[in-house]
Amino acid sequence: MRQEDPRSPAIVCGSGAERLGAEIADLLRVTPLESRLDRFPDGELDVAVDPAVRERDAYVIQSLGPPVNDHLVELLLLVDACRRESASRVTAVLPYLGYARKDRRTGPGEPVGLRVVADMLAHPRIDRVAVMNPHVLQVEAIFAVPVTIMSAVSVLASALLPPPATDDVVVAPDAGAIGLAERYSAELGLDRVAVVLKDRQSGTEVSVSGIASDGSGGDALLVDDMITTGGTLEAAAAAVRDSWGPGSLRIAATHPVLVDDAIERAMKLEPAQVVVTDTILHDDLPEPFEVVGVADVVASHLRDLTSR
Ligand code: R5P
Repeated sequence: MRQEDPRSPAIVCGSGAERLGAEIADLLRVTPLESRLDRFPDGELDVAVDPAVRERDAYVIQSLGPPVNDHLVELLLLVDACRRESASRVTAVLPYLGYARKDRRTGPGEPVGLRVVADMLAHPRIDRVAVMNPHVLQVEAIFAVPVTIMSAVSVLASALLPPPATDDVVVAPDAGAIGLAERYSAELGLDRVAVVLKDRQSGTEVSVSGIASDGSGGDALLVDDMITTGGTLEAAAAAVRDSWGPGSLRIAATHPVLVDDAIERAMKLEPAQVVVTDTILHDDLPEPFEVVGVADVVASHLRDLTSR
């Protein structure tokens, strides 16, 4: 039985990050606090946290993968519960931040979903946010509280075996992923980054008008922050193969949202390897998918935050 210091960090896991949260707690040498998640007959969520959260530095760990709206409301309720139970500080730890793609309006009549989520989290008075590879780095400007950005690039890059050859090219599947592609190329010591010129028509449809690249050929490493329907990967892989011919393709993406037939769509591309993390849990992803754990990365950020 682990003897716990009542001043140690309190880990509260939401249902979207139960296994990852337990691994993070283990690395921090604490036991996650018990929390209850029920549902009222009308569908409303009914949660409670262990009162042992009182006067402790609380980390509410929740991934906003599907069902995203339930996970979001559960997070808000858990944070409010920690507050009302007098936690000394509450940090929302979001391995996957949903709604982050809507960081700006792309047409008339649209809301800014990311801003709405940031405002919702401000109400139960979150003190800090820690988020893994958010869709846009501007989350720091959108949240009013301090934001810690965690990255899975290093662990995903290390899982690419054999390591990419020096003439391989890192491919950003759209302009928004250029920064991410540059981080992979720096991590892997590669010189070439190509960008697919993608345009999104709807949540499921994208079109590609070309690929911007200095030179052609070489095997491709397609990188993205998330795979949702697989439409982006499909279009980007077609652009790479149309431009350079049939080199081998590998894929690295942080968040495996993987809805509808995304897994099958990815597999049809016959990639040599698809590395994703466990920010969203999937049991039994088929080969060539490989899941890389991020508990170590998160735990080391939480150690740092606890010491401040
Ligand atoms: C978009 O800008 C993102 O970075 C991803 O490329 C996109 O969300 C992936 O979605 P899907 O797999 O549905 O194309």
